[in-house]
Amino acid sequence: MSNSPYPILLTPGPLTTSARTKEAMLRDWGSWDADFNQITARLREQIVRIVHGEATHVCVPLQGSGTFSVEAAIGTIVPRDGHVLVPSNGAYCQRIARICKYLGRRHTVIDYTEDRQVLAADVDLALTADPSITHVALVHCETGAGVLNPLDEIAQVVARHGKGLIVDAMSSFGAIEIDARKTPFDAVIAASGKCLEGVPGMGFVILRRSTLEKCEGNCHSLALDLYDQWVYMEKTTQWRYTPPTHVVAALDEALRQYWEEGGLPSRGARYARNCKALISGLARIGLRAYLDPAIQAPIIVTFHAPADPGYDFKTFYNEVKKHGYLLYPGKLTTAETFRVGCIGHFGDAGIPGAVRAIEETLAAMGIRTQALPA
Ligand SMILES: Cc1ncc(COP(=O)(O)O)c(C=O)c1O
Repeated sequence: MSNSPYPILLTPGPLTTSARTKEAMLRDWGSWDADFNQITARLREQIVRIVHGEATHVCVPLQGSGTFSVEAAIGTIVPRDGHVLVPSNGAYCQRIARICKYLGRRHTVIDYTEDRQVLAADVDLALTADPSITHVALVHCETGAGVLNPLDEIAQVVARHGKGLIVDAMSSFGAIEIDARKTPFDAVIAASGKCLEGVPGMGFVILRRSTLEKCEGNCHSLALDLYDQWVYMEKTTQWRYTPPTHVVAALDEALRQYWEEGGLPSRGARYARNCKALISGLARIGLRAYLDPAIQAPIIVTFHAPADPGYDFKTFYNEVKKHGYLLYPGKLTTAETFRVGCIGHFGDAGIPGAVRAIEETLAAMGIRTQALPA
């Protein structure tokens, strides 16, 4: 049983936040007020610093969930006659293809199964075969199954072809290194309520300044036009339209704790410890991870559901919840699975506690499993 008064969220955002982050939302802020605008400026500066992009990139925050920022990035950066290559190994890659379709941006998909990594060699071949492609849109950690895609290798290929690169780093940003000094990209997209451990409600895009300067007039949407948001923010220090003030204040406090913890190396190491403890703990009770460990991101792990006919996810979920932990359904079309997140503010006891809760739940459901070989 967890000691927390609320269930611990073992989900890839929204996730469990600290008391300090929640408390930061207890006051109201005026959106025109200089004190609030200083917070916005501070956030933007710190987010660029996380990818070492101070010399080359700018951060443009945007209201809404992460998908709003993905759509904004594609709409703002890809000209209307552009052509986007979407290597796809899961649900969030498919969403990018769907966004391109909605926005009327020509796109080509390279299809992989959900248990495979995107390969830089395939991107190379596709760019060689079709010179009309102008941009590649890559998901860094494909949260659908939990695969980590080889961002740097792909970025080098894209740069060699002189094309643009848009990276959905929603579930990896702040925990898995992205270094703008070494890895060329035009846009990296993430959001407040993921590995920075803020609350959901705003996204942000880190854009190469020289690319963004040329994006005026590309976007099909006023509200999602990152060029317009950037120009307005630079001029006034304010958000163009009503900012999610409490979310911004919470992210500011979450970032303070991020640096106190030791920044990206420490955040990434904590999640990696969680991931390792989770996979070995559930293996001990007979639950097998879906992915090859070599391509598993330390963010969210997909497990095969027990083969027992008495298993159903809803009952399993509700019983584990009674022990104080929220799990996540599987998102695969090809196998019966469930997912467990490794990210969020819960102590080192969080994962062992969740493993115990799962073990007790399966026993109570009469589901027999056998420990997997170590
Ligand atoms: C890789 C990735 N892209 C995009 C999104 C979409 O974010 P949202 O649900 O906040 O719109 C998520 C959400 O978890 C994600 O993991």
